[in-house]
Amino acid sequence: MADISRFIAPGVRARKVYHVAAGEPAVKLDAMESPYRLPMELRDRWLYALRDVALNRYPSPEQYERVKARLAREAGLAPHTGIVLGNGSDEILQNIVLALDEGVTVVAPTPTFVMYEQIAAILGRRFVGVPLKEGFALDVPALQDALARHAPALLFLAYPNNPTGTLYPSDAMRALLEVDEAAIVVDEAYYPFAQASLMGMVADRPRLLVVRTLSKQGLAGLRFGWLAADHAWTDELEKVRLPYNVSVVTAASVEFALDYADVFADQAARIRAERSRLYEALRTQVTVWPSEANFLLFRPPVPGRAGDIHARLKGAGILIKNLAASGGALDGCLRVTVGTPAENDAFLAALARAL
Ligand SMILES: Cc1ncc(COP(=O)(O)O)c(C=O)c1O
Repeated sequence: MADISRFIAPGVRARKVYHVAAGEPAVKLDAMESPYRLPMELRDRWLYALRDVALNRYPSPEQYERVKARLAREAGLAPHTGIVLGNGSDEILQNIVLALDEGVTVVAPTPTFVMYEQIAAILGRRFVGVPLKEGFALDVPALQDALARHAPALLFLAYPNNPTGTLYPSDAMRALLEVDEAAIVVDEAYYPFAQASLMGMVADRPRLLVVRTLSKQGLAGLRFGWLAADHAWTDELEKVRLPYNVSVVTAASVEFALDYADVFADQAARIRAERSRLYEALRTQVTVWPSEANFLLFRPPVPGRAGDIHARLKGAGILIKNLAASGGALDGCLRVTVGTPAENDAFLAALARAL
């Protein structure tokens, strides 16, 4: 293979490609997707709605504005709040970091969503992780200290956090919102399962950016995320966003999905109910952490067995996420996405056999 290393940024050279599991397991519980597809009748209506989408045209400003107006209404945003649309919330996160000055630092409590560090590294920004405390609780003094010491441009807070499922207490979140040093990105990817949000605070906090996605509530394949923040932010982020990043098909599908918000809310409620059942069942066999997201983090009782258990489940057609290699506080941990009742039963039965 040719040596192209001198052309590639060190931050890129040092990384590995983000791993996406190949294959189609019978029970797929590794990626926090919804187990529910659109009901068949809605799929027909969706296809019908797409008939009128002009594939020969680039997305129009009017279409983006319509989507933004709908999102603002659904989220109860104050008038004049800025919104930026993204090809998944990953892209939004990337655009935020891209807009930052070169050489800045970004901070996040760790373990957390790996993309925060990945994006910072690829874009040549410094990432500082501040360890969560026992039980994956937020260490507010340690974070305040890190903010004072590193003077970062940004603090990422996944609310609830991935891969722990933790919803940080609101008083801790408020304390962090008071800091002057950094802007705060609150990533509400799992909002449908936590039903707690800082979206209502965006209007009064010019340093608060709230990011959401439709991925976890049944539309992961669509690739759509969005951000709400003061216009001072969104005006700058609009310069970074590639002009047609959300396709006409995606934009039309989002408009369609927002007409059926009740269907997605009902699916999320079913997932929350199953999360409780799964948590109670897991508690009897493994260490499992409370979660306000659509997944559960757990650790088998015998150290060093996570890889073997993951492989046995895979052999039984059930794919979950092995986090053992992440090390640190995630040592020996596995993460399972909440599936349908039947999928969860299959997972629990296979896990019992594997343990
Ligand atoms: C905390 C968090 N934020 C953002 C994302 C990215 O979601 P998407 O790019 O599908 O919107 C994920 C995906 O797992 C996540 O866990």
